[in-house]
Amino acid sequence: MISDSAQLKQVFINLAVNALQAMEATVTPELHLTVGRLENTAWISVQDNGAGIPPEIVGRIFDPFFTTKGPDKGTGLGLSICSSIARKYSGDISVESEPGSGSIFTVSFPAAEASAVAPVLTGQEAEPSVRPGEWANYKILVVEDEDVLRRLIQEVLRSHFGCRVDAAANGAEGLTRATQQQYDLIVSDVRMPELSGVELFMRLREKQPFMARRFLFVSGYAGEEKLDHEIRCCNAPLVAKPFSIAALTAACLPLLKATRSGAVPSR
Ligand SMILES: Nc1ncnc2c1ncn2[C@@H]1O[C@H](COP(=O)(O)OP(=O)(O)OP(=O)(O)O)[C@@H](O)[C@H]1O
Ligand SMILES: [Mg+2]
Repeated sequence: MISDSAQLKQVFINLAVNALQAMEATVTPELHLTVGRLENTAWISVQDNGAGIPPEIVGRIFDPFFTTKGPDKGTGLGLSICSSIARKYSGDISVESEPGSGSIFTVSFPAAEASAVAPVLTGQEAEPSVRPGEWANYKILVVEDEDVLRRLIQEVLRSHFGCRVDAAANGAEGLTRATQQQYDLIVSDVRMPELSGVELFMRLREKQPFMARRFLFVSGYAGEEKLDHEIRCCNAPLVAKPFSIAALTAACLPLLKATRSGAVPSR
């Protein structure tokens, strides 16, 4: 089993970034992340509906320094790193692709005993009930300064809830957007330059008190005393980084439901 979650995260981010880049020209981009377990094998697959991979190069994409992107865009190391991490843990990585339709990368590993499998691999809570179109009219704002993570969270929430998801690269931009229009949910990093997530929360609460119930923090700094204290004072839920997709969507769901049930004032 993979005990080093940072390496698993790296595999996942490399695959997701490739998928996002492959979908740059796709009109309705879709990124699907699936986790599962079959007997003694656990797997994660990342599927996109992007450009796909021509058959004549598919055999080379795992080679170090092989890239079809410009020198300023890609080093060609992403997939070779994924492949070494998979091999290091006795795993495997495979690809199926159809030019013009998209690609699916699957990383598989020998599974640990059920009780020892890290939450990110269990897939137990992977399908919180969301009916098609249920949240279509809702608007979520993601405030995160890390580019890749911002795009990932945005993509994940957009594909999971099927609603509009805007993004801001720091707290100040988040505040501007949130005062220009009303969001049903704000998912914000805590530590950011210019204006932190906590400051964003406080300023927004001053202007629109009901927004305090529409706020979810994501933070890589859980356990840091001062920040923990600040977050506790906000009394808003927190998802600690690194988080699984299921944990993120599961944390968003009750906040969206509270908006709908009228527990939080007017939409
Ligand atoms: N999801 C995908 N869809 C289409 N092509 C892909 C996809 N993933 C990888 N490729 C192809 O495989 C090549 C190698 O990918 P790899 O991740 O190793 O390097 P890169 O993305 O070009 O650069 P880097 O990851 O270092 O920024 C890419 O240049 C691209 O041609
Ligand atoms: Mg790459």
